[in-house]
Amino acid sequence: MRQGQLGPAGSSVVIEECLRGEEVSLFAFCDGENALLIGAAQDHKRIGENDTGPNTGGMGAVCPPARFGRDAQEMAIDLFVRPALREMGRRGTPFRGILFAGLMLTEGGPRLIEYNVRFGDPEAQALLPRLRSDLLPILLAVARGRLGDEEVVFSDDVAVTVVMAGRGYPGKPTVGGAIRGLDRAEAIEGVQVFQAATALADGELVGAGGRVLAVTAIAPALQDARDRAYAGVAAIDWPDAVWRRDIGARALMP
Ligand code: GLY
Repeated sequence: MRQGQLGPAGSSVVIEECLRGEEVSLFAFCDGENALLIGAAQDHKRIGENDTGPNTGGMGAVCPPARFGRDAQEMAIDLFVRPALREMGRRGTPFRGILFAGLMLTEGGPRLIEYNVRFGDPEAQALLPRLRSDLLPILLAVARGRLGDEEVVFSDDVAVTVVMAGRGYPGKPTVGGAIRGLDRAEAIEGVQVFQAATALADGELVGAGGRVLAVTAIAPALQDARDRAYAGVAAIDWPDAVWRRDIGARALMP
C-alpha cells in the first residue's frame, strides 16, 4: 500500500471473516431461469506444495472433488446458484451462461466465497475431459433460454490436471524456453495436454507466459489419474517449468 503497487485498489483494506476448510469450485449451466448442475472440481491455488507461497490462478485440479459428492453439489446449487439466478431475473438482468460458485467447505457446511461467470482455469481442464454429453446443444439451450431435458453426462473416471508454469510465476515468469515432448506425454493412456501460454519461435514451441501447460489425465481411480498426469509432466522436456508435486495428494487422504 505504501508503495502504491496496486494503484487505487490498494487504497483501502476490507476485513473479512476467515473461512477454514477445503475450497471447491461448483459449476452450473444457467438459462436465465433454470440451473443445471455441471459438476465440481478442486483447484490448488497456491504456488507451493502443501498450499504454501503466494496465490496463483490455479496450479492443478481434481475432478470430482473427493469430499464433495453429487448430492452435496446438488444441495449447493439450491443454496447458492438458484437464489442468485432468481434474484438476477427479478432485477431484470437474467443470467444465461456458466455460473461458477467458489465455495469453502467449512465444518458448518459450505459457504460461498465468490461467483464467476465462466468456467474455471484449471478446473475446466479437469472437468471437460470427463464430459460424455455433446456440449454444443447444451450451450445452445443456455443461450436460447431453453434448458429443458438436457442431460449432462460424465464418465465415472477421475481427472487430475497438473499446471506447468514458467519459472518465476506468479511473479515475472521466464519466457522463451523451448518446450518439447508434448507428443510423448499425450502418448500416455488418458493424458491430454492443454496449451495456455505457448508461442512458436523459429518453428519451436516456447513458453510465453505464466501458466503455460495443463497436463490432464483421466483414469478410473484417483491414484492412477495422478500417476498418469505426473508421467505426462515427466515426459515433457521444458527446463523452465515449475509445477506442484502434490496435486490430488490430499484427496487421497482418508
Ligand atoms: N482457478 C480459479 C479460477 O478460475 O478462478
